[in-house]
Amino acid sequence: MSNYYKIIDYIKNQFPSKPFIPLHEPNFSGREREYVLDCIESTFVSSVGPYVDKFEILMAELSKTQKAVAVVNGTSALQVALRLSGVKSGDEVITQALTFIATINAIIYNGAAPIFLDVDIDTMGLSPYSLNEFLEEFGELRDGFCYNKKTNKKIAACMPMHTFGFPVYVDEILTICKKWNIPVVEDAAESIGSEYKGRPTGSFGKLGVFSFNGNKIVTSGGGGSIVTNDIELGIKAKHLTTTAKIPHPYEYVHDEIGYNFRMPNINAALACAQLEQLDYFIQKKRILALEYSKYFESIGVNFRTELPNTKANYWLMCLQLENKKERDIFLKETNENKVMTRPIWQLIFKSPKYSSFQRDAQENAIYLEERIVNIPSSVRL
Ligand SMILES: Cc1ncc(COP(=O)(O)O)c(C=O)c1O
Repeated sequence: MSNYYKIIDYIKNQFPSKPFIPLHEPNFSGREREYVLDCIESTFVSSVGPYVDKFEILMAELSKTQKAVAVVNGTSALQVALRLSGVKSGDEVITQALTFIATINAIIYNGAAPIFLDVDIDTMGLSPYSLNEFLEEFGELRDGFCYNKKTNKKIAACMPMHTFGFPVYVDEILTICKKWNIPVVEDAAESIGSEYKGRPTGSFGKLGVFSFNGNKIVTSGGGGSIVTNDIELGIKAKHLTTTAKIPHPYEYVHDEIGYNFRMPNINAALACAQLEQLDYFIQKKRILALEYSKYFESIGVNFRTELPNTKANYWLMCLQLENKKERDIFLKETNENKVMTRPIWQLIFKSPKYSSFQRDAQENAIYLEERIVNIPSSVRL
């Protein structure tokens, strides 16, 4: 590719009058000020308040689930969702190595170990083909639960991640996990508003998780949410993330070792104002994605688009470049010219602290690691 400067100019033109073009910046054009000021004036800025309740109702509605719980960030949401799916210390959890570190940390915080399986080239998320291959080779059903023949440990959950908002092959993963009696927890941190066969990502597994970090399409500053169709699990999620305190007007009695993972009301206020604009933001992002896709097609560069049967939220938009050398030049040229781009994550097992966990050949993950870059994807108003 020799047309870096053309691409840099083109991207700059999409975001005019900006000296530096970030990858994804938040947009506060709704009722954010009003709601946050309301918190300040009411003094309800901390762990309880009407915006937390409102946020949970909005999240259950938009994820089409029975219950949503507001928490302090996506990582803690994943940690608790895994615990509630049945993951215990000494267990194993199947997931992908091509992900943000939080997916893996949440497993390890539960005392469990990740098993890294390959992704699909098209979805960039956990591959049902790899999942099936792995379980046929290493899986063993004992007393109705799945064990890993190699390590003798229980495979207590499977956690696919919808990379950059592109849904994984949900049906296939659910079918395989059902066969092996492995609960699915969806890491939908990046895929708020994305759909698979007309249903929101996050709503398919036993539990699903979203992130509201500042780099996401909608943000609460920092925040997360657990969603589930199992109301009892949802109630447990609320209990565990609010220090497992038994409701009482003044006594402090806790019936479990819970967590203080509560989303403060002031953050929930911001999130509520943002969620009110989610559809509009995604509409705007999809327009940008369409423009990018036409442009990059015209110059012979592979811009990643949604697959049939899915709707992507186009959180971070991606190019798939020819090889690592081209990727490295592209990253250098764009960033030097104040157009922020970044590579997809380094495969997690390449970091020494994460290198000892079981994994398959990772052919697709390695291929994508060398080629995928994110380009500026903010909502343009
Ligand atoms: C795939 C994935 N999982 C989990 C998280 C964790 O979310 P948070 O940053 O809110 O803890 C993020 C993003 O930040 C993410 O991209």
